[in-house]
Amino acid sequence: MAKARILVVDDEKLIRWSLKENLEKEKYEVYTASTGEEALELIHEELPDLILQDIKLPGVSGLEILEEVKKLREESLVIMMTAYGDINTSVKAMKLGAYDFVEKPFVFDKLKLTIAKALETVNLKKEVHVFKSQQKAQFRLDNVVGQSDSMNRVFKMVEKLSRSDATTVLLQGESGTGKDVIAKAIHYQSRRAEAPYMEINCTSLPDTLIESELFGHEKGAFTDARAMKKGLFEITDGGTILLDEIGDMPLSTQSKLLRVIENKAFKRLGGVKDIVVDVRIIAATNKDLKQASAGGSFREDLYYRLKVFPIYLPTLRDRSEDIPLLVRHFVTTFNHEFKKNVRGISPEAQDMMMAYHWPGNVRELKNVIERAIILESEDVILPEHLPLEVVRPEPVTNPHGSSIQLPAEGVSLSEVERELIEQALATSKGNQVHAAKLLRMSRDTLRYRMKKHDLL
Ligand SMILES: Nc1ncnc2c1ncn2[C@@H]1O[C@H](COP(=O)(O)OP(=O)(O)OP(=O)(O)O)[C@@H](O)[C@H]1O
Ligand SMILES: [Mg+2]
Repeated sequence: MAKARILVVDDEKLIRWSLKENLEKEKYEVYTASTGEEALELIHEELPDLILQDIKLPGVSGLEILEEVKKLREESLVIMMTAYGDINTSVKAMKLGAYDFVEKPFVFDKLKLTIAKALETVNLKKEVHVFKSQQKAQFRLDNVVGQSDSMNRVFKMVEKLSRSDATTVLLQGESGTGKDVIAKAIHYQSRRAEAPYMEINCTSLPDTLIESELFGHEKGAFTDARAMKKGLFEITDGGTILLDEIGDMPLSTQSKLLRVIENKAFKRLGGVKDIVVDVRIIAATNKDLKQASAGGSFREDLYYRLKVFPIYLPTLRDRSEDIPLLVRHFVTTFNHEFKKNVRGISPEAQDMMMAYHWPGNVRELKNVIERAIILESEDVILPEHLPLEVVRPEPVTNPHGSSIQLPAEGVSLSEVERELIEQALATSKGNQVHAAKLLRMSRDTLRYRMKKHDLL
């Protein structure tokens, strides 16, 4: 591991000299500065891990240096050296973000321990920093797969957003089309990437909780409010909030949300003070909000406000040209996860995937590949590794919800049932589990009906 770098800033030559001497013995790389200006230069050039500095310097003050360090490199820490008994300045330094302070004159052995502890913290912070940037990279747009025209349009919109200050985005698309991944990409591509990204699902919370989650509450705002709590809007200040399944948000919360969007301010429940925040709101839904607003379950004014920047995610069946690409992507992902070495997919299996209508969109395709990789012992995915619905898709239903037309002269339901059971058994070569799956019933129900028709 590289040596930790320490900068000593003090106008007393003797202190600089003795600290340098002693710290170098401890195998640290040590720089010294006698003035604030010199210190600032070294901080920019060398990016020290730790700065030991006298709080009283001629020229630029110790506190100013502290502020500059915090701006430049979040992981670096500052230990202030103060005159004995100068508690006021020490407290101020700690408030401004100094890691610790030592009083002069100090015992080197004690200082040595403080430094070692501080450097441990610096290393931890560096690790967190690396982890965060890896995480960020994982969510960026390059990891969202697609090269169809419709997906390219989505990517263009996300890029446009990353440069814009638009604070509301409406993400629409069927379940599994990638609303979550696009919402994260919008955040991590934008200038907000360093600030928090939070999600809240409007369906999973009861009406009463949703507002306290979003806006927070004051102590005593309601029976259970034993302490003040900050809401998501406050915690996410500067960042992005994903309001998932916005179509399910209660009407009363919708009007509060509209107010936040318009005024950029809100009050905690039971509070009187306006809290101003800068948050980008991404509202996601698989519902048709226009229809919902016509039907009265969604506020029309909120719908129009959200739709200022709309992104529509295409279904997988509308971009089947992306299927081979997605298959390759998930084969790589799951090979890695399950330590397998599956090379790809047979042309026959791929054709079946291209023809299938994917009601669960990319999520369903991802699950199909995951399952195939778990099952696969050869080196390519074959039709037998695919689930039945992909291999033998049911006919797509007509708008009335049925693919079977009742003949004008009527029909014996019992005979139809018997015939369909026989067909299912023939298709599945007598395998009752498969036949039951084709008929969307349990094996027990199938056996019961087979008995009824004397088929068992
Ligand atoms: N274009 C894509 N590239 C790679 N992975 C994708 C893509 N789209 C979706 N996925 C993956 O598919 C799964 C489902 O996507 P996601 O959760 O974003 O869907 P959603 O639209 O939010 O669905 P829901 O409406 O059910 O919440 C996730 O595991 C996601 O990583
Ligand atoms: Mg989602």
